[in-house]
Amino acid sequence: MRHGHRFAPLALSSALLSIATIASPGCHRGSERTTTSSPVASSGVADQPIPIKAPDERSIPAGSIGDAIRRGKTLVTRTREELPDHVGNGLHCTSCHLEGGARANAGPWVGIPGVFPEYRSRNAKVNVIEERINDCFERSMNGKPLSFGSPEMNAIVAYMSWLSRGVPAGRDVEGRGFKRIKPAPAPNPEHGKEIYLVRCASCHGATGAGLDLPDGGYQFPALWGDRSFNIGAGMARLNTAAAFVRWNMPLGQGGVLSDQDAYDVAEYFIRQQRPDFARKAEDWPKGDKPADARY
Ligand code: HEC
Ligand code: HEC
Repeated sequence: MRHGHRFAPLALSSALLSIATIASPGCHRGSERTTTSSPVASSGVADQPIPIKAPDERSIPAGSIGDAIRRGKTLVTRTREELPDHVGNGLHCTSCHLEGGARANAGPWVGIPGVFPEYRSRNAKVNVIEERINDCFERSMNGKPLSFGSPEMNAIVAYMSWLSRGVPAGRDVEGRGFKRIKPAPAPNPEHGKEIYLVRCASCHGATGAGLDLPDGGYQFPALWGDRSFNIGAGMARLNTAAAFVRWNMPLGQGGVLSDQDAYDVAEYFIRQQRPDFARKAEDWPKGDKPADARY
């Protein structure tokens, strides 16, 4: 609902249409949820997003389920070290899903197991949460999917479900996905490069390669090159990258860049060399490809 009315008068502009579908990770989630609203939702009260309140670690129960939740947390925060056969780059899940997946406007996982299954236009079908997770393995992590029912997949889902305690099933949290920003009519990559060198290179490196630690982890993740997300990733799309950067980067100073600067720097780094995604031709089979898709 909250997306629908904000953009309604401009809904036919293709640029805005694409914006209306980004920033909200479920892509067509906004519009679909609006059109499929139940009578409860149309009362306008029950549809309010729920504020994020990450649970206290001490609430992780003892026993097997607690072990799985803790294992899930380790897998998402040390993904490349823990799952080398499934990760083809230098990232962790929490390189983008900040603060263990509990940060608003940084792709939080709070409440997410309760909103799946969800229809997604990119593969034009209803996806269960495991498929959504594997999408990030194959694209954002440039790696290989986990098997359904594997201890690793189940641990990740257990962790996300624990994060979601207290959020009613089917309800979005406040700050799901990435907070949208006004699209820049003409992003300027030359200006973006200047911003990158001043605001980003001190951590992510002048060559975008980030900085690794000797223990196999990283201090700063790569933004492009072989150790980065592939071209099929959500972060390779301009609107998504700009919205992430606008509210989250430079790390700890999210909000300092203007919308235009966020677009300029995103346009600069997403277009640097990065791994290809072999199955990209299968995306958006119904022809509803967003305007900022890279292929
Ligand atoms: C390079 C950044 C990046 C990394 C690394 C990453 N993701 Fe994502 N993830 C995204 C983006 C961007 C989206 C939203 C995509 C879109 O707009 O369709 C997303 C969406 C999701 C969603 C759906 C959220 C929602 O609101 O519907 C889940 C679940 C998820 N990711 C899990 C994971 C897991 C698990 C990992 C590690 C295996 C991971 N992600 C790694 C960028 C990333
Ligand atoms: C103070 C250091 C620092 C600065 C400056 C900084 N970043 Fe980051 N950035 C990080 C860290 C650390 C992460 C990963 C967070 C984590 O692992 O918890 C990250 C993650 C990212 C990611 C998602 C992960 C990936 O590697 O793709 C993007 C995109 C990104 N930063 C872009 C930028 C941009 C653009 C700028 C400049 C406007 C910038 N950052 C400035 C430290 C920084």
